[in-house]
Amino acid sequence: MAERRTAIVGIGAYLPPKVLTNFDLEKMVDTSDEWIRTRTGIRERRIAPEGIYTSTMSVEASRQALQMAGLRPEQIDLIVCCTVTPDYPFPATAALIQKDLGAWNAFGFDVQAACAGFLYGLTMADQFIRTGSARYVLIVGVEMLSRVTDWQDRSTCVLFGDAAGAAVVTAAEGRGLLSSRLYLDGSLWDLIYLPAGGTRLPASEKTVQERLHFLRMRGNEVFRVAVRYMGRAVREVLEDVGLTADQVDWLVPHQANHRITQALIDYLGLSAEKVYANIEYTGNTSAASIPVALVEMLEKDLLRPGQVIGLTALGAGIAYGAALLRW
Ligand code: ACO
Repeated sequence: MAERRTAIVGIGAYLPPKVLTNFDLEKMVDTSDEWIRTRTGIRERRIAPEGIYTSTMSVEASRQALQMAGLRPEQIDLIVCCTVTPDYPFPATAALIQKDLGAWNAFGFDVQAACAGFLYGLTMADQFIRTGSARYVLIVGVEMLSRVTDWQDRSTCVLFGDAAGAAVVTAAEGRGLLSSRLYLDGSLWDLIYLPAGGTRLPASEKTVQERLHFLRMRGNEVFRVAVRYMGRAVREVLEDVGLTADQVDWLVPHQANHRITQALIDYLGLSAEKVYANIEYTGNTSAASIPVALVEMLEKDLLRPGQVIGLTALGAGIAYGAALLRW
């Protein structure tokens, strides 16, 4: 009998309808379409309008994932919501997702691992499934960074987009998670962070005036560690299962910057056709980027049973990791 592993049996995505192009950004900050395209690979991103929240986007993506899995919301045992942009500092956005979906038999929590969120969520879901404490887990990777972006800061506001991705996982035979590795390098905590609103700098008139409720990023330094850390993590999961990079059918990296992806391709010696990229139309959607990419790949009929799919991501923390799945 084939070994049972944690496998994705349903997946869904939600992108808000409003498109913000590089040309729109040219009118907002001192930048150009040319700079953004050549430095990041991004042409446009989606921005959620007022009235749409992190939980709203999550529920849309989750309904699709449940439908594909052929499950009712009450069959979900656990909701893992991966986000750094929750509806509220507390309660967990997982609670709002549970309420709006009607997933009344689920327990749930939020995972804060920024762009590595989906990988963290998938790996945690795997633990609950392997111990038998959950049968069906809903993992949501969702981000609304537009609400914590400083639209006067050209070095960050051109990068991010809003989106949600959701996956239902359960134990399955002959497919699923082959290996995953998670890492955290807290010595680099201040490369990407949101200064105010926590216990160190509670909200005040001063924090608002000083624009401290918006994310800060030292992009250039993130860039330098990104390739090395993600590249190493991918090599480790390959070693775990005794595969070489050329035996991977697809690598789906977190969509942060097309130059990072290109450098990763070179580092791993992969062929570029095996690396999925959609940053051009989504921007960096943080925890949503991997599940959104997987949904697109399914829609384009790129994913086939038996394929080996590599995932890797890195974000604030610095939290990062990699996983290998048999589709
Ligand atoms: N338009 C025009 N010029 C710009 C812009 C812009 N939008 N942004 C920055 N510049 C300028 C800078 O001011 C700088 O000018 P200077 O040389 O006169 O000082 C110049 O461009 C180069 O700036 P760098 O920061 O060195 O540019 P770089 O090539 O590194 O690209 C970028 C910046 C795109 C942010 C890149 O560093 C990057 O993608 N980093 C990784 C981001 C990432 O992966 N984040 C992780 C996930 S985020 C999360 O976890 C929430």
